[in-house]
Amino acid sequence: MSVDTTVAVAKGRIMDVFQDLWNQAGFPWPIHGKSRQLWFPPNQDRPGLIVARARDVSILVARGIADFGVVGMDVLEEYPDPGVMRVMNLKRAECRLVLAGQSAKWPEGPLRVATKYPHITRQFFQKRGHPVETVGLSGSVELAPVIGLAPYIVDVVDTGQTLQQHGLTVVETILWSTAQLVANPGSWRIRESTREFHQKLGTIIDKKAGAT
Ligand code: ATP
Ligand code: PRP
Repeated sequence: MSVDTTVAVAKGRIMDVFQDLWNQAGFPWPIHGKSRQLWFPPNQDRPGLIVARARDVSILVARGIADFGVVGMDVLEEYPDPGVMRVMNLKRAECRLVLAGQSAKWPEGPLRVATKYPHITRQFFQKRGHPVETVGLSGSVELAPVIGLAPYIVDVVDTGQTLQQHGLTVVETILWSTAQLVANPGSWRIRESTREFHQKLGTIIDKKAGAT
């Protein structure tokens, strides 16, 4: 079965939804309670699991440390890595990346944008021929307009509650994101266990899609 496979998963929200898929596939989840363990080698009952920072998942997969990676589309677009193949949309952890500000009006003239996603932000404005300066933050991005750091932000939105609480509104959606399964191309080509794991997850994803 798929026990020879190793999966690197982005910790946080992505890992929470992936745990559910893993259980539905019939594998025991190896992380118990408040364990800080980050590496679970494959055994006869389940594939291996590596708990990683989101932006490191593709590196582990591209270098063959893991056969698969599970990470958000937003992260794959911010840190593109030609060494991985996108092999399945897991249709979970839905959110969107938006440009937001204190008004829904498209900004006039050169502007400053605070974001965790400088690459996507620059590409977005470049396509529109609009000059932009990005201010890189690693969290609490909605603070930026409130404290006068930057009038606009590019950030992830789900319920919209965080935007609302900071008096912000969506100007434009830049991309829709869900959790993605990426694979190491070599492993994908030659390892039967890799294809088996992919097939197993596919059945679960399709079952859910068909049911809703
Ligand atoms: P980082 O490594 O950047 O610190 P994190 O630990 O904050 O990440 P989470 O915020 O738990 O990680 O998960 C981030 C991922 O979850 C995003 O990349 C995105 O794909 C997905 N996601 C789904 N809903 C949301 C949401 N409401 N806010 C942020 N990310 C979300
Ligand atoms: C995320 C994201 C937004 C918020 C969006 O923050 O960056 O701030 O959730 O969710 P909502 O639309 O449902 O309110 P997170 O909790 O990951 O903290 P962070 O600011 O440290 O990234």
